[in-house]
Amino acid sequence: MRTDHRADPAAPAADAPGQGATAVAHPNIALIKYWGKRDERLMIPYADSLSVTLDIFPTTTTVRPDPGAAADSVTLDGRPAQGEVRRRVVGFLDLLRKRSGRSEPAVVDTRNSVPTGAGLASSASGFAALALAGAAAYGLDLDRTVLSRLARRGSASASRSLFGGFAVCHAGRGIGTAADFGSYAEPVPDADLDPALVIAVVDAGAKTVSSRDAMRRTVETSPLYRAWAASCTADLTEIRAALRQGDLPAVGEIAERNALGMHATMLAARPAVRYFSPATMAVLDGVLRLRADGVPAYATMDAGPNVKVLCHPADADRVAEAVRQAAPGCSVFTARPGPGARLTTEAER
Ligand code: DP6
Repeated sequence: MRTDHRADPAAPAADAPGQGATAVAHPNIALIKYWGKRDERLMIPYADSLSVTLDIFPTTTTVRPDPGAAADSVTLDGRPAQGEVRRRVVGFLDLLRKRSGRSEPAVVDTRNSVPTGAGLASSASGFAALALAGAAAYGLDLDRTVLSRLARRGSASASRSLFGGFAVCHAGRGIGTAADFGSYAEPVPDADLDPALVIAVVDAGAKTVSSRDAMRRTVETSPLYRAWAASCTADLTEIRAALRQGDLPAVGEIAERNALGMHATMLAARPAVRYFSPATMAVLDGVLRLRADGVPAYATMDAGPNVKVLCHPADADRVAEAVRQAAPGCSVFTARPGPGARLTTEAER
């Protein structure tokens, strides 16, 4: 795993004049979830979150400013991006243009190796790669903290994918500029754990309710929301101690209860948001059976039906087999902690 978190060591600023820049970023899975914003315009989370960046499913994004173009061109996996996806990318490019004092439209090409919109964090890897490539392409020399803050404006979970391994995202305090300044991610320097995450993709289709809409509805209508958000503070303190001690069962227990609590807030929203499917429940049962058999395995779920199971690398094959048996037909991937976002050179591509 790459753990170099300096501002972009030995990284090219951009491919060449007029060529733009390309960045690769990996998704991250939150163990303490971010769910809910206290400022939607500035994308400020209610609570701190903590994640692990994966070594699989990278997103590769190239940004090339084009002075001759009339408008931004955005392609996602080779197809023109539409609707909300395009609007979010163009909004992000506007931030880059404002910050750099430049006005050219950009050509943006993004390739995901993860099913988009299936609760597998494609917006985290997507906006981390866009922030890094876009900043370089528009000539901005930003350190990782500033990049992380910027990536948050695209998708709050993206702030964490700038970093490899475990990262914590601060919700910041105050309002307006103060909140914006205080909300960014940074590595967890003293984590002493190298787990595996077995990912059960029970349904790779796009979700019916976007995480953005679902979290807004939860914040506005769920009577359980405030209690869960408050519980994240204690969960974060406890998980950081467990990570320091390399205590996988403690990390897993805290992560599992935090995720189940987040889904409970959604189930209590009006109308309810339910991402679980029968296959999700079957995998959760499989995880309980593993634990009953003495295998430390713990589940976490995001805005979708897929389940990620935290375990020791030595148990990953057994966990993967149990997951396959629990939900026949699901696709199973095993990930380890992976690197932070980085710029790539032409030669690497
Ligand atoms: C359940 O970061 O995708 O994965 O900030 O609106 O883009 P926006 O939401 P997003 O939400 C991620 C929610 C989560 C938990 C997490 O990653 O912390």
